[in-house]
Parts: sequence; structure tokens; C-alpha cells
Amino acid sequence: MRVAMIGTGYVGLVSGACFADFGHDVTCVDKDTGKIAALDKGEVPIYEPGLAELVAGNARAGRLKFATSLPEAVKAADAVFIAVGTPSRRGDGHADLSYVFDAAREIAAALSGFTAVITKSTVPVGTGDEVERIIGETRKDADYAVVSNPEFLREGAAIQDFKHPDRIVVGTDDARAREVMAELYRPLYLNRAPILFTGRRTAELIKYAANAFLATKITFINEIADLAEKAGADVQEIARGIGLDNRIGAKFLHAGPGFGGSCLPKDTVALIKTGHDHGAPLRIVEAVAAVNDARKRAMARKVQSALGGDIAGKTIAVLGLTFKPNTDDMREAPSITLIAALQDMGATVRAYDPAGMDQAKPLLGKVAFCDSAYSCAEGASALVIVTEWEEFRALDFARLKSVMAKPVLVDLRNVYSAADVARHGFAYESVGRAGTADS
Ligand SMILES: NC(=O)c1ccc[n+]([C@@H]2O[C@H](COP(=O)([O-])OP(=O)(O)OC[C@H]3O[C@@H](n4cnc5c(N)ncnc54)[C@H](O)[C@@H]3O)[C@@H](O)[C@H]2O)c1
Repeated sequence: MRVAMIGTGYVGLVSGACFADFGHDVTCVDKDTGKIAALDKGEVPIYEPGLAELVAGNARAGRLKFATSLPEAVKAADAVFIAVGTPSRRGDGHADLSYVFDAAREIAAALSGFTAVITKSTVPVGTGDEVERIIGETRKDADYAVVSNPEFLREGAAIQDFKHPDRIVVGTDDARAREVMAELYRPLYLNRAPILFTGRRTAELIKYAANAFLATKITFINEIADLAEKAGADVQEIARGIGLDNRIGAKFLHAGPGFGGSCLPKDTVALIKTGHDHGAPLRIVEAVAAVNDARKRAMARKVQSALGGDIAGKTIAVLGLTFKPNTDDMREAPSITLIAALQDMGATVRAYDPAGMDQAKPLLGKVAFCDSAYSCAEGASALVIVTEWEEFRALDFARLKSVMAKPVLVDLRNVYSAADVARHGFAYESVGRAGTADS
């Protein structure tokens, strides 16, 4: 099959490279000329494990190409994916669909022969109807069907997720489009990944419902963590105790500094807006968004109390800036709010991240960026683990202690245990468990 992928970001590039790897002939298109120039030179513009090798192999085999111009790729394609961004619209939090609609207009002008136009971007329910209308208006003679095929991959494990999905959701009532989708995903189909064919609106809503549910799970365990801390219980054991129940499941029950990233924050807010627009308010999701927002700043107060209440004039070392490990994505990372709050309290912040520093620098003012965990810790009165990169899981505490002003560890990801850290002479504060710091 010939595929055009419009938008070559985290989702478009991974999906395009994986489809090429299945044997399809893929052109990834992006308006960002710098991105496409880099890809043409064999440089992958994002950090995603395994992606550089996958892109290089398929480009070498001639199955994966890159372009800045959309018409040529669309004209030749049996399937055109829209994988452009749908950020929060400034002011009201609705999904900003301008990139999707612009892409739809450009696609319409270039369509040739029957083409499935597939929305992979996360879009509110009803967007497919609008894309269909835009294409029909722009090109009265076009032969096309608009499909919803939301993406569920996780950054940091994106290739594995794309190639071994729990399910593939395809929203369409069109028989020809259904055939195209079955053909595209056949390699996964053979691996028995369930393909769920639904109505288009249902598929659009499945994506938001899934993300809102995951956000709810995280927020639920975060609130239980706050209670556990006050009541002298251990949230990790609680998470295990409830997660072993198959009806609940163990995943997304890790207490921490609140969810961030390119999806959950914007998608929960957009779903809340959609609920209001339809006269069906989503009170639970509203509470999730509000609780999560408050939590990020509350983490700064946790650092403050670990230092006995006063951090003005002190240096705080932050380990991990990206919203999770194994990505360089800084969108809505809890570190951004936490660092701003620490600075508001008068602290000086040093920071280190294994992959996210380039993305972080424009977002974080007055932070001293360091090249390792140990240089970051120099002169610090507390070390704060914000993102649980593997390299922070076996820190050399003796070395840290020798360079820090005060041996205090605030572990917002519960990487360590209080007993382990205490053995090295550190005061310790974590999330939802008893600490040993002087709070
Ligand atoms: N990042 C994730 O983990 C993830 C997971 C599932 C779903 N999604 C959804 O997928 C969509 C894309 O997310 P992303 O993280 O890949 O975004 P991104 O910002 O990394 O990439 C979007 C790309 O689209 C390009 N673009 C915009 N308009 C264009 C046009 N008209 N023609 C060509 N290129 C154009 C931009 O230049 C950019 O490179 C969003 O709706 C997001 O919610 C993201």
C-alpha cells in the first residue's frame, strides 16, 4: 500500500516508520523544513529508543521517504494519515483543530483516485464529520472516505506499542476504507492484535475516554498517596494490594508528581469542553484535571518541608526534566511547574536530564543546566528526583554526599526506599510513604 503520513512528529514518524517496516511504501510529510532536512540526512529529530535504526533501515530499503510538499505524496497514496498536532487552544482549552483542518484542505486539493483519509491525531468527537465536509467542499469530485484511527502509543516505548498494540481502533462505515485499513494493519492482525471496527464518532471518543481513564487512575493513586502519608501507610503497598485485583489492574498506579506530557493534560481538558458542549458534563474528569494541576505546585512544598520549611537562598538539584523517562518531550512536564514554584520560593535551581536538556532550556528560565547527576548535586541542599530515568536508579550516594551542602533526597518517583537511603546518611522524603526528613 502507498501511504502518505501528514505530520512527522512523535506519532507520524513512528507510525510512518513502522508501516514502512511492515512493507508499505510510506512518505512522511512535514511543513517543518528543518525536520525533513534532518531526516533526509539520516538524523532523527526526536529521542525515541530504536527509532533511529528503524528509520535508517527502511529509508535505506527505499520504503520510507520524507517530503515537505504534500501534493505529490497524497496523489500517489491509497491511504493518507493526518498526524498533525492538536494542542490546547489558547484561552479555552478546546482542542485546536486548525492544523487538522488546514491539512484536510491541502489533502483535498491533491486527492487522486479512491483514498482513505485517516485521522490519527487525537480529535474531539465529530471532527471526522468536519474533515469530510471540508474535503467535499474543496473538491466536489473527490473519491474518498474519512476514517478515525486513534493512536495509543506511549512515548519511550512507541515502536513496541505500535507493533504490539493492545488493540487497533478503526472508525468507519465505508466498506472500501475498511479494506484499506485491514490491509494496512494486516501484519498486526496476523499477530492477533484485535482490530475493533466502530462508527467514526465512537472511535474518536474511545481515544479520549481511554486517556481520561488513565489520568483518573494516576490521580486517584496520587490522592491515596497523600492520605497514606498522613495516615502512616505505604502507597506502594496499597497500589500492589489493589493492582493485583484483575478488575483494577496494576498499571498507572504509581504515585508521583502528577501527570504531564503531550497527551493526558490537553486531552482531559478537551474532553471536559466536549462534555460541556454536549450538555453532558464530566465531573470526574473535571476533578482529575483540577487535582492534577494543584499537585504539581504542591510538590515544591514537599521539597520545602524536607528542608525544614525554608528554601529561600538554597540550591536545589533537580534530576530528570522530561515528563517521563526515555523521551525528550517536555510538553506539560511536572518539572516545569515544580521548578517555577521552587524559584518563586527563592531557591536557586540546578538541573540535569539525560535526553531532554535541549527541549528544556527554552522553557526553563534561570536554571543552571549540568552534564551529570553529580555535577548537578554540587552545593545543593536537596536532590529531587522528578523523572525516573534508569541512570538515577543506582546513584552513588557517597559521591553525592561529598558534593552536596546537605544530604537530603526528595524522591518524587519512589525509586528508593527510606531504609536504603538512610544507610547512606541521607534524609529522605518520597510520595505516599513515611519519610525521614525534618518536616
Ligand atoms: N505524542 C504522543 O505520545 C501521542 C500519542 C497518541 C496520540 N497523539 C496525538 O497525535 C497527534 C500528533 O502528536 P505528536 O506528539 O506527534 O505532535 P508533534 O507536534 O510532535 O508533531 C506534529 C507535526 O505535524 C506537523 N504539521 C502540522 N501541520 C502540518 C501540515 N499541514 N502539513 C504537514 N505537517 C504538518 C508539525 O510541523 C509537526 O512536526 C496529536 O493529536 C496527539 O494528541 C500523540
